[in-house]
Formats: sequence, structure tokens, C-alpha cells
Amino acid sequence: MTTASTMGRRRRWTLWGLMAVSAIGIVAFAVPPYLSGDPANSNLDINPDAAHHYLSLMVHAVPSGLALLIGPLQFLAPLRNRYLRLHRVAGRVYMVSVVIASVAALFAATFSVSGFPAQVAFYLLTAAWLYSLAQAYRCVRRGEVRLHRIWMIRNYALTFAAVTLRLYLVIGMVLRKQYTWLTFEDVYTASVWASILINVVVAEYVIVHRVVASSARRRQRRESASATSAVTSRSGGQDG
Ligand code: HEM
Repeated sequence: MTTASTMGRRRRWTLWGLMAVSAIGIVAFAVPPYLSGDPANSNLDINPDAAHHYLSLMVHAVPSGLALLIGPLQFLAPLRNRYLRLHRVAGRVYMVSVVIASVAALFAATFSVSGFPAQVAFYLLTAAWLYSLAQAYRCVRRGEVRLHRIWMIRNYALTFAAVTLRLYLVIGMVLRKQYTWLTFEDVYTASVWASILINVVVAEYVIVHRVVASSARRRQRRESASATSAVTSRSGGQDG
């Protein structure tokens, strides 16, 4: 018989699988053009006035890809519980990757030829990426594991914007065939902003419904169990 909790577990595994597979897919598709060292392979237009534009994309894309791949493993509770050392080491690699990728992203955003609205989005994304990472680190150092988890959900949701951005770009390019007045820049800018905003909303939804609600349910169960045992021991005392 399939219980509600089995269905919930199955749904969680399916969502985790989708997240992991799409992260691998985007890394396999987006990162290789920046491994060759040849600006001609870049998927993005390179700024002719910035000598180090392609270099900034290289230094950004490789650690970003690593962070995108490590993230799903860090959320696996069985792996975390059994191999805490591995979780810690992978967490450090993730952190260093995000820091390097963020610094390079600042250069990439500055050299970008994708337009001012997209550049603003990338600057804000970098700030939020670093801030949520710093908060997650601060919390785990203080032993506040639940808060660490919450901040890492926020942080990885921002990392995952790399996946949703490319998904929205594909949707936008399909829509552009119908709505011919849309320029590529319109589609790109809208996709960059949508990838950030929608991921932030989804992360907050997950935090409220999974992390906060589940610990509230646990607390409620604990309270009602201790109330029941208090009543039982009181009535036991009266019987005796
Ligand atoms: C979440 C924080 C991130 C920020 C702030 C950020 C920032 C940027 C910026 C500013 C650019 C240049 C865009 C342009 O000129 O239009 C860029 C491009 C790129 N980013 Fe990121 N990025 C982030 C996450 C990631 C992740 C997780 C990946 C992992 C695959 C990634 C891979 C790339 C690649 C491959 C490019 C080159 C463009 C392309 O060929 O698609 N980025 N990023």
C-alpha cells in the first residue's frame, strides 16, 4: 500500500533527480566552450574593448559549474548523515568555488555587452550569492544547523539560476518566433531577471513548507507526546 509519506518521499526523490540531472546537463552544455581558452568558442559575444572578457568568463564558468554539480549532493540527507566528513569537504570546495566564480562574475558583468538591465541583475545576483554563502557559513560555525540549511537552500537557488536562465532563454527564443517584435536582448534580459526572481520565490516556498513547517510539526508531536505521558503518569499515580 502506498502511504502519503511514501508518496512524499517519492516526489522529493523525483524533484532531487530533476535538479541533479538538469544541473549536470547545463554544466555539460554551457561550460566546455570556456575550457578551450579560445574566445572564438564563447557562446556569448565578447566585448572587443575588454581584453580580459573571455578570461573572466573562463574563471567564472569553471568553478560555477563545480558548485552547480556539488550542490545536489549536499542536500542528500542519507549522504550527509553517513559521511559527514565528505559533506564538510564538499561544502568547502563549494564555498571556494562560489567565491572565485563571484569575483570573476563581477568582471564578466562589467565587461558584458548584454545591456545595463542584465548587468544590474548580475551584480545583485553576485551580492546575494556571496551574502547567502556568508550567512550559511556563519550559522554552521555557530552550530545553528537548521539556519545553515535554510541559507544553503537560498544560496543554491541562486546557483540554480544558471539552469533556469537557460530554460527561459529556450522558451523565449520559441516565443520570439511568434512575437517577432521581441529582440534577443529583450528575451535575454527578461530571462536573467526571471531566473533570479522565480528561484528566490521557490526557495522561500521550500523553506517555509519543508524546513519550517516540518520542524513545527515535529515540535507539536513532541509536545503532544509529552502531554500524553504526563496525563498517563498522573492517572497511573491516582490508580496506584
Ligand atoms: C549565481 C551566480 C552567478 C552569477 C552572478 C553569474 C554571472 C554571470 C555573468 C555576469 C555572466 C556574463 C553574462 C553576460 O555577459 O551576459 C555569466 C556568464 C556565464 N555563466 Fe554565470 N553567473 C552565476 C552562476 C553561474 C553558474 C552556477 C554557472 C554554471 C554553469 C554559470 C556559468 C556561466 C557560463 C558558462 C557563462 C558564459 C555564458 C554562456 O556561454 O552561457 N554561471 N555569468
